[in-house]
Amino acid sequence: MAMPTDTTSACQTNSILKEFKEFDDTKAGVKGLVDSGIEKIPEFFIQPQELLPKSSEVAPPSLQVPIIDLEAIHKDADSYKQIVQELKQASESWGFFQLVNHNVPKALLDEVIKGIKEFNEGNKDVKEKLYSRDIKKKVSFASNLNLYQMSAANWRDTLNCLFDDSLDPTDIPLVCRDAFMKYREDLLPVAETLYELLSVALGLPSDHIRSMNCAKTQIFVAHYYPPCPEPQLTMGTSTHTDPSFVTFLLQDSLGGLQILHDDHWVDVTPIPGALVVNIGDLLQLASNDKFKSTKHRVLASTRGPRISLATFLVPAFDKKKPFGPIKELLSDKNPPLYKEVLATDYLKSYVSKGLNSSALSYFKL
Ligand code: OGA
Ligand code: NI
Repeated sequence: MAMPTDTTSACQTNSILKEFKEFDDTKAGVKGLVDSGIEKIPEFFIQPQELLPKSSEVAPPSLQVPIIDLEAIHKDADSYKQIVQELKQASESWGFFQLVNHNVPKALLDEVIKGIKEFNEGNKDVKEKLYSRDIKKKVSFASNLNLYQMSAANWRDTLNCLFDDSLDPTDIPLVCRDAFMKYREDLLPVAETLYELLSVALGLPSDHIRSMNCAKTQIFVAHYYPPCPEPQLTMGTSTHTDPSFVTFLLQDSLGGLQILHDDHWVDVTPIPGALVVNIGDLLQLASNDKFKSTKHRVLASTRGPRISLATFLVPAFDKKKPFGPIKELLSDKNPPLYKEVLATDYLKSYVSKGLNSSALSYFKL
């Protein structure tokens, strides 16, 4: 979820705010601008210099996000241990990995990407009707949901879809409905397996994380990044961490996603059929900082559209159960680093936060 990364709010000066409002009123998003044939990007997309990529911070291409292969998970005890070990290492030092042999068919992943593309390139009325910044809506479409809090807009449009027990599937746009429903159905068992492995990696009973109900709600955030005429001036998605427990990211073959690792930006190179997984803020909190919620961003590019679907797994919102560092992990040597927090309150402070810092710092003890 791309959220504000600083408070130098270019968007809050009046003329820019007016320009932005006009853009928002078109309900056609960034794609609408590109379709109109613009060659220069509007000012409200221009990021302050300090937030734009610097060549000195780019990691050598040999540095790659770890790949976790689930193929041998049921083969024997040694293979299982090996996978847990790799997952532990990846979650501790990278906070990101690419999952392969996860059992979600490649053909379905392609269907999902195609559905998102068709929604964005399809009937304008359908998009206009869904265009909304009301975060209480289960299904909505908007460019830069949080634009009014951001320093500058990002070069992308987003369809949001909140899956919980009360979602009416017919609210999902028809062109991507079946693919979304099937993807969700196939993804949940993968999440269960991952939660089992993460529990073991933390030294907990294998059903510990599963029993915390941390995949109760799934927020689908489907991005469409149109080609950008001046990619050096803006961002596809500004630097952020995810407010989720865990995020599953499906990206197409274009690339552009980068993560911050040891002060360098590492490309998350697309692997056909893989799912990118990252540890969100809520798992960093639950693991008492053992696992890392890593900063990431998406570059703007002249190539496009790029399509991705981030699925945020979050604890049930309606539960009045506070969420804190897992008690079984705590000891005199490992005292709690965070207060307990309701998942909803976490998301609220995430949305309203300023600066480049994680909202996690608000809940530090
Ligand atoms: C996000 C995100 C990355 C991408 O939605 O939080 O990081 O590749 N997306 O679109
Ligand atoms: Ni993200």
